[in-house]
Amino acid sequence: MKNVLPHGAHTGPAGHLVVGGCDTVELAERFGTPLIVLDRATFEANARAFASVLGPSHIFYAGKALCCVAVCELVDGLGLGLDVCSGGELATALAAGFPPERILFHGNNKSVEELERARDAGVGRVVVDSFDEIAAISRLAMSCKLLVRITPGVEAHTHEAVQTGQYDSKFGFVTIGGIALRAIDAARAISGCDLVGVHAHIGSQIFEPSAFELAAERLAELLATAREELGFSASELNIGGGFGVAETSAEVAPSPQASAEAVLAAVQAELAARGVPVPAVFLEPGRSIAGRAGVTVYKVGTVKRIPGVRTYLSVDGGMADNPRLALYGTRYDAFLANRMNAPSGELVTVAGKHCESGDLLVVDARMPGDVAPGDLLCIPATGAYTYSMASNYNRLPRPPVIIVHDGEATEVIVRESHADVLRLDRHLDGTPLRDRAAGIVSRRL
Ligand code: LLP
Repeated sequence: MKNVLPHGAHTGPAGHLVVGGCDTVELAERFGTPLIVLDRATFEANARAFASVLGPSHIFYAGKALCCVAVCELVDGLGLGLDVCSGGELATALAAGFPPERILFHGNNKSVEELERARDAGVGRVVVDSFDEIAAISRLAMSCKLLVRITPGVEAHTHEAVQTGQYDSKFGFVTIGGIALRAIDAARAISGCDLVGVHAHIGSQIFEPSAFELAAERLAELLATAREELGFSASELNIGGGFGVAETSAEVAPSPQASAEAVLAAVQAELAARGVPVPAVFLEPGRSIAGRAGVTVYKVGTVKRIPGVRTYLSVDGGMADNPRLALYGTRYDAFLANRMNAPSGELVTVAGKHCESGDLLVVDARMPGDVAPGDLLCIPATGAYTYSMASNYNRLPRPPVIIVHDGEATEVIVRESHADVLRLDRHLDGTPLRDRAAGIVSRRL
């Protein structure tokens, strides 16, 4: 199980899971459940491992994995750059005081308002994704570094929903039909901006190095042609993120350092083979920094044994705080955080409390035979793409995020209340909620 838990996580003397020096049973008592616990040391160690290969300023943490003010502050403290992909992520970064020149702005459909905000804030880099965006940036008189997003025609072996490098993609400019070259030519003609290079991100949760090697080959081919035909020399090459993270103890993922080294070596070799000078290489990892740093703790509410069919454990969260099994069929491990030493016995399915049968969190988890209401169930490797994809489905309030470090716990995203969920509601006539309703919802339920 060690490979899916945060660094230093262990079983304390009471048989409880301890993360970041904090007893998770005490955290559940203090902050309630469900609860997302993020170990700062693991997050920072992963980030530093990437930075040790390329230098901190050449790593853009992909905020989509987990973005909140405190995480932006952590990333800033490490000297990394930050990849934002929406006005909301940009606003979060700016609220954290993140230096705008170290922000890189992504998106296949950035709005004019978002681009204006990026311009006015002084965002350092924009990754252009379409000819329409090239026209918009010209009109907005922006002055930042630009990269052209390339779709290199690489089908990485991962869930279809998170493949982004294949030609049939809404992202970027394909390397066929001269389209990527045309984009480079058009982007470098934008006055006031500085086209520094190209970018590719081929997908997420990728374990096979060959996909990154193929991307490196295609990008090297493109840069060689761009030199020859356009006289364009890139000073920056960003290969995106996508490095796989073990989500069950049966999986083995390369370390962040090994991933970064392998990509760098592939890029250097492919460029050298074509006589193209090697530009500065950048990466954009999200999951491989945040994923293993996080665990989610739920409370078991019911245990339903259907003889000869299945045992369902239902917990107090579900697909609204972690939709990944529902969306991608993700398999996780699960265990009892309050009884780490209890011998495990029966196979169970962990379900949430939402009104549909697809609301599952873990299939085939092995649990102690006497698992009962009140037990605390932990799902590891949930630091990335859980809170960031959480919703209020069934009007469930979203859980808090607690950062733990050296035995200290800080609530960096507060648990939502029912009042928070009702905050934007208005009566049928458009008026704010009347006192009676406000009185009901202002109690923290
Ligand atoms: N750069 C770009 C342009 C991206 O689109 C992404 C992820 C990343 C970097 C970071 O990729 P990572 O290192 O985290 O794999 N919701 C899905 C994952 C979607 C990934 C979207 N883009 C999931 O839960 O698996």
